Amino acid sequence: MYRSVFRPGLFQGQVAVVTGGGSGIGRCTAHELASLGAAVALVGRNAEKLAAVRTEIVEAGGTAHAYVCNIRDEAAVQATVAQIYGEHGRIDALVNNAGGQFPAPLKDISAKGWEAVVQTNLTGGFLMARECLNQAMQQRGGAIVNIVADMWGGMPNMGHSGAARAGMVNLTETAAFEWAQYGVRVNAVAPGYVASSGMDAYPPWMAETIRSMPSTVPLGRFAAEAEVSSAIVYLLSEAAAFITGTTLRVDGGRPNVRPGSPMPAPRHGAAPFNGFHLAVTPKVLQGEEDRHAGA
Ligand code: ADE
Repeated sequence: MYRSVFRPGLFQGQVAVVTGGGSGIGRCTAHELASLGAAVALVGRNAEKLAAVRTEIVEAGGTAHAYVCNIRDEAAVQATVAQIYGEHGRIDALVNNAGGQFPAPLKDISAKGWEAVVQTNLTGGFLMARECLNQAMQQRGGAIVNIVADMWGGMPNMGHSGAARAGMVNLTETAAFEWAQYGVRVNAVAPGYVASSGMDAYPPWMAETIRSMPSTVPLGRFAAEAEVSSAIVYLLSEAAAFITGTTLRVDGGRPNVRPGSPMPAPRHGAAPFNGFHLAVTPKVLQGEEDRHAGA
């Protein structure tokens, strides 16, 4: 079973939509929410991955359903949210987690590549949030968490993603203001380097860069997926009832590194919290146990 730090039954009777629920942080968060009683609607493009996560959750005693949807497609988002609302009768939580990018310096990014990344990481999240608000949350409130990234100060070789995710932070702030009147809270979580399946999506030439990431983080390691999930779950929970419009960094202090201040090696490290019983070590980090969060 998932070892959540949160109270059993915290989300009992609630419906949570998790985009990008077929892998990585989305899969982990879906498991944690289901373990706390939520019925989870897994949204993503890949039917097989969604079905596999649904099976995992059901085998763990939870409730989950899969909805294949390309979040870049406005009509598909409208229809998917209508289907989820129709089948469940409510939507209490949205985790806008689906995302993705490809590494490239700005000078080599075509308009098509730029648009694709912005649509996935900004427009798609906006559409999901707008539809959950208009179709469901306007009536009885809710909570939205947008997953962004550690793009503070720029995101070299991922400029399209950094721009989109910075846009998402600002969207979070506007939506927090506009939707507070409906009892809808809107926050964001900005993960740093997470030991997650997403790392295996990058080309082989990035492997050494990926493996050296912990040396650039004051806490000296990768995050476990469960450390991001617990931040998301906190912001969705009643414990965060007065928090809206904020972005919670989960990055081991990486943006606080300053050129000219040598990084002290962590003496004890910071022990990872890994509550996810089905966490898998990304292939690129296998054999690196002492340098990552220890899936
Ligand atoms: N995950 C990554 N990109 C996605 C998209 N366009 N739609 C749904 N899930 C996604």
